Amino acid sequence: MSLPKVSIIGAGNVGATAAHILLNHDLADIVMIDVVAGVAEGKALDMMHMRGNEGFHAKVSGSTDYALTENSDIVVVTAGVPRRPGMTREDLLNVNANIVKSVLDEALPRSPEAIYIFVTNPLDVMVNYAFSLAGVPKERLFGMGGVLDTARFVHAVCERLDCQPSEVDALVIGAHGEAMLPLPRLATVNGTTLTELMGAENIDAVVADTINGGAAIVELLQTGSAFYAPGSSIASMVAELLFPTGKTVSVSARLSGEYGLYDIHLGVPVRLGKGGVEEIIELDLSDQELASLAAAADSIKAQLSEL
Ligand code: LAC
Repeated sequence: MSLPKVSIIGAGNVGATAAHILLNHDLADIVMIDVVAGVAEGKALDMMHMRGNEGFHAKVSGSTDYALTENSDIVVVTAGVPRRPGMTREDLLNVNANIVKSVLDEALPRSPEAIYIFVTNPLDVMVNYAFSLAGVPKERLFGMGGVLDTARFVHAVCERLDCQPSEVDALVIGAHGEAMLPLPRLATVNGTTLTELMGAENIDAVVADTINGGAAIVELLQTGSAFYAPGSSIASMVAELLFPTGKTVSVSARLSGEYGLYDIHLGVPVRLGKGGVEEIIELDLSDQELASLAAAADSIKAQLSEL
């Protein structure tokens, strides 16, 4: 039986971790591409050696040559320079925009019908930039940010309330950056709202841990940024695209009037399916939350105008 094909562009820590987790799910054959000779090929061979232990049927291959990506069902773009200590995601703007452009030049003609997931930072700016270049329908081009931020939010809640992740229903929307918007008001643990379970101080701390989660890891690692949770977030989006369960996930999706915003990709709740973003879910947000989304959109547009 032939499996769907997922190409991961950039076989650094994030791309390779996503490949590793996906292989263990056994949902898709995987191609990894990296500009550095031997890296994608070497990591792919190493992962194939896992088969004897893990028993998965999926195959992974790696190359510098995009020919291997031909006719992918999903293309995940992780290529880019990561943050170093003291840098914001936004500091990566120009260098990563050039990388995103060159990836599209290579990948798009070979997989014009694929779903494209962008992961390169600064995430929302890169997704908008990629959309402006690619000419791919909005349903098939979006970004991974909110799934990771939501995972960090859930972790922060569980740390404080000593609950299990499966008991938490939560969402983080907005930009994958300083302007992200965790929604404690709409989060629940076993059906009870977070605001009933925690005082304002603890909620502020959970929100701060969520927003600072990525930077905390950059500070600790010193030589790179997070990759286990980003890799797992990519894998969970790919799984939802290939085998939809109908759950709500937060992705950087193109808005056409939702939340009062037009012609911009920004983190919002969606339902994913075989066609990509199948539905954008409009939450009942407060005026302050809507203003925060609008401010994030303005900041993304300002950064886009510098490219
Ligand atoms: C982070 C990077 C991957 O949030 O944006 O860790």
